[in-house]
Amino acid sequence: MKTIKLLVINGPNLNMLGVREPDIYGKKTYADLCEYIRGACAEQGVEAELYQSNHEGDIVTKIQEALGVFDGIVINPAAYTHTSVAILDALKAVALPAVEVHLSQVSEREAFRQVSYAGLACVRTVAGLGFEGYREAVLTLKGILEK
Ligand code: DQA
Repeated sequence: MKTIKLLVINGPNLNMLGVREPDIYGKKTYADLCEYIRGACAEQGVEAELYQSNHEGDIVTKIQEALGVFDGIVINPAAYTHTSVAILDALKAVALPAVEVHLSQVSEREAFRQVSYAGLACVRTVAGLGFEGYREAVLTLKGILEK
């Protein structure tokens, strides 16, 4: 069987993990997150490219460029979750299976975090599981893509 290729996108301020609001996001760094995701993908025999950006347009372009290259997308759009119709439209445009991940339990946080635009184009949302959420997302996409 062909190796599944996933694009894992992390949005703004996730490069500040370990420093930013450790009470909410924990003390581990973005490098630790990358190591975790690489490990989870290797364990599942899935290939992954990891991408982080603080810029909405760059994330839109990266999603567009995934077409024909990747089989699925794992995305934590971070703050753009709650504001970006452009990221939603890009996910819809490429129509690759996508899973939304949030480290924190967004449903228990501020009112402005209760809307997810990107989530409207995702097959699943995993929130509140910390790093483990990315592993869940990989497993979900693997399940869909192997069907
Ligand atoms: C986040 C939740 C968002 O509301 C927030 O803006 C983030 C991170 C999470 O992973 O829990 O930056 O996506």
